[in-house]
Amino acid sequence: MDQGGAAAPEMEVESLPLETRCPPFPLRQYNGFWIPEITLRRGVPAFHSRFTPRPSDIILASFPKSGTTWLKALAFATLNRAAHPPTSEDHPLCRTNPHDIVRFVEIDFAFSQSADLEALPSPRLLATHLPYSLLPERVRETCRVACVSREPKDALVSWWKFIKKAAPAFGGDAAAFTFQEAFDLSCDGRCPYGPQWRYAVEYWEASVRRPDKVLFLRYEEMLREPRGELKRLAEFMGCEFSVEEEERGVADAVVELCSLDRLKNMEVNRNGRGKGKLPVNNANFFRKGVAGDWSNHMSPEMAQRLDKIVEDALQGSGFSFISSA
Ligand code: A3P
Repeated sequence: MDQGGAAAPEMEVESLPLETRCPPFPLRQYNGFWIPEITLRRGVPAFHSRFTPRPSDIILASFPKSGTTWLKALAFATLNRAAHPPTSEDHPLCRTNPHDIVRFVEIDFAFSQSADLEALPSPRLLATHLPYSLLPERVRETCRVACVSREPKDALVSWWKFIKKAAPAFGGDAAAFTFQEAFDLSCDGRCPYGPQWRYAVEYWEASVRRPDKVLFLRYEEMLREPRGELKRLAEFMGCEFSVEEEERGVADAVVELCSLDRLKNMEVNRNGRGKGKLPVNNANFFRKGVAGDWSNHMSPEMAQRLDKIVEDALQGSGFSFISSA
């Protein structure tokens, strides 16, 4: 398979390497990544053949459990701050989960072949879990893509915790799926959209090559410097905060509105369910939201093993999950 973002022809999916030990979906290895079979069979081909990118489109890309929900909330609140002031008690984020506001293109296509993305007004804010190399060439050429990345041990713990709770919503069962199993599979890159290091390098390299088209964010930096990272995001999306807005505290209000504590405690996120194709309990998207939770789930030996795998894989790439900034 090439690196040009070509979609797998339908009949080829059957012949791709299969991994069935990762609930809730079977995964197939394509172009170096383990992708949910249903996404590969239906979502990716439709994304490639039926999605018409617009220059104003902003696509939010993420390896699962890296801060997708947060990025969706921040990007939406920032882009729409004129129509929806972030201090408003009636803000859409106060009544709607971020995943019901910003949709995943390939998931929409995977579960509904009549995805109505064409009907959305510009500028469209959309999301994807697909690796950079699997995005349609026209999307890479036309749209702006903001990617959020997270330290792999924390992303792994977050994924395992999520899938244990959310698998039934995907029609699966992860009751017997142990952390050790999730860990061993992830070390081998066998998790949805894995290996994570390869995923991150692709987006990071693209952000270095084409900073006007690809923005690379890190979850840990967002935790450390939420306002500064939000300003980078706003600038990238072409809706920079003005000095006057800064003075009025608009950026701070966006950060506050999208904070874990605020979102997690909204009624819709405590008791609501996804309205889209995957009826996940919204509460499952909000947990601790910290850096370093891996130490509560992994032995030092496990951590060393994964760190070494990541270090070896990243050798010579110039990329590190730890920011040097
Ligand atoms: P933890 O499970 O480590 O707590 P995703 O949105 O990609 O599914 O990632 C989920 C992770 O992001 C979870 O991490 C979740 O708690 C955290 N998260 C969700 N919303 C957040 C927010 N507003 N601010 C910070 N972290 C958030």
